[in-house]
Parts: sequence; structure tokens; C-alpha cells
Amino acid sequence: MYEQLIHINERPLPFSVYTADTLWTDPHIARQMLKAHLNPDTDSASRRPAFIEASVNWLQSRFNIGPGTRLADFGCGPGLYSTRLAQLGAQVTGIDFSENSLRYAKETAVSHHLAIDYIHTNYLNYQSEKRFDLILLIYCDFCALSPVQRQQLLGIFRNHLADGGAIVLDVHSLVDFARFEEGVSYGRNQYGNFWTDEDYFSFINQFKYETERVTLDKYTLFTATRTFEIYNWLQHFDQASLTAEFAASGLAITDWYANVAGEPFDPQSPTIAVVATKS
Ligand SMILES: C[S@@+](CC[C@H](N)C(=O)[O-])C[C@H]1O[C@@H](n2cnc3c(N)ncnc32)[C@H](O)[C@@H]1O
Repeated sequence: MYEQLIHINERPLPFSVYTADTLWTDPHIARQMLKAHLNPDTDSASRRPAFIEASVNWLQSRFNIGPGTRLADFGCGPGLYSTRLAQLGAQVTGIDFSENSLRYAKETAVSHHLAIDYIHTNYLNYQSEKRFDLILLIYCDFCALSPVQRQQLLGIFRNHLADGGAIVLDVHSLVDFARFEEGVSYGRNQYGNFWTDEDYFSFINQFKYETERVTLDKYTLFTATRTFEIYNWLQHFDQASLTAEFAASGLAITDWYANVAGEPFDPQSPTIAVVATKS
């Protein structure tokens, strides 16, 4: 017990454990995530419908999206963006490793008579002959990846960009980082049945890594039959660190915004969104 408590409360090295696949693909958690994506009153998995509408409108006008636009939506989830972008006439490829979210996305495409190419894979392994005019990675997914994974993903983006194509993604800023506070809590069924239908006890440990600008929400869950851990890492960025990561992958950031709805860049914003091209 003592050893276990040491492990639970010990500060792990940044990005030393990757559990995003469990978070998004464990069958029970994936069902809860889909509910969260589709709940118009929460921003917990996707942003709310009004923001998504504003975002799609901005993307359409900024990139002149229409018939013929080849678009990839990395981490498309249940297709809240992919559906709307395909309705504008774009040829959309949606990539995600959540089978449950993709099932919903595919059913939506069928019911709206949209020919969206949904690919079930880890996007860190995505390889295709296709080239895209626009590559999206929306809702700060970039921040959940380790430095090595981020370089890997930017390399994949670069390889799949058509000449003149652009990447749009958003990240958490240092404003968001400053708000984060370390803490620990313990309780029974703290998140209701979000993690499992079984009765459970959980520890939530929040760690802040000042030098690396990384935060971690770590969940340790104990049911009668199993123990599991979820590590939610988030890298936070300023313009310099984001510029450097893109440059290391042969990409140049051409435009800065406060978010993926195209609001002007604001140093007080908790998010930063960028448009990048091959350099
Ligand atoms: C925060 S949600 C955002 C979904 C969507 N972009 C939106 O804004 O509505 C992140 C999505 O990325 C997917 N995802 C995370 N890591 C992934 C990976 N390595 N490969 C494929 N999909 C991934 C998750 O399954 C989830 O659907």
C-alpha cells in the first residue's frame, strides 16, 4: 500500500507515460467521450456548437473552402467539423483512433449523403498518397503529445501537404499555464460513471512543470477488479516555442490568431491558433 501511495503521488517525468489511447479508445470511456462531444452544453471533448459554427465559417472564408478543396481533419472525433466542411463541398478525410466516435461520424455522413473518407488509425502512423490543401488538428490535441510525437506529427503534416497547402491548429497558451494549480484529491466515484460502471476509488494528482511549461492531470483508479491510470499531459506554448517546433519540421507559421474561429491574436487568450505552410 505504502509503495503504491508513493507511486501515485510521485511526480513523473514529463510525457514519460502515454495513455491517450486508453482515454479515447477504452470502450466505456469512449462512450462517455462521445456523449461529451455531442453535449451542446460542455466544452469538455469538443467545443460548443456556436463556436464550431463560427470556426467553420472562418475556415471557409479564410481558405476559400468549396468543391475541390482537399481537406484532412486529424483527430476528427465524431466529425463535428468534418461533416460541416464536407457540406461546403470539400473532399474530407477524417482520421481518428476512436472507433466509437468514427462510427457516429460515418452514420452522420451516410444520413447526410456525404462522401467523407473516415480512416480509423493512430494519426501518428498516418501515411497516404493523398495530398491536402488544408490540414486541421483542432481542440489543442497537439498539446497532449510529447515533443517527439509532435515532431513526428508535424513531419506527417508536411509530407501530406499539397503545394500551397496550409495547416491550422490550436494550442494552450502560457495564460492557461499560469492558471493551473497543483493539487491532489481522493474520493469514491469522483467522476460518477465517467471512467467505469464499476464502483471505484480514485486519486487525482495535478502536477505543474514550470521549466517545461507542461501540466499533468493524473487519474489513478481502483475498482474491485483492476487498477488503471490516465495521464493527461498538456504542453503550453508561446509564439517563440511554437515557431521553433514548426521550423524544426520545415514549416513556417504565417498567421497567428486567438483561436480557430479566427479571432485576432491576443496575448491574454488561453489559446493560440496558427496557420502554417511548408517553409
Ligand atoms: C479533443 S478531441 C477533438 C475532436 C475534434 N477535433 C473536435 O474538435 O470536435 C481529440 C480527438 O483526437 C483523437 N485522437 C487523439 N489522439 C489521437 C491519435 N494519436 N490518433 C488518432 N486520433 C487521436 C481522439 O480520439 C479524439 O476524437
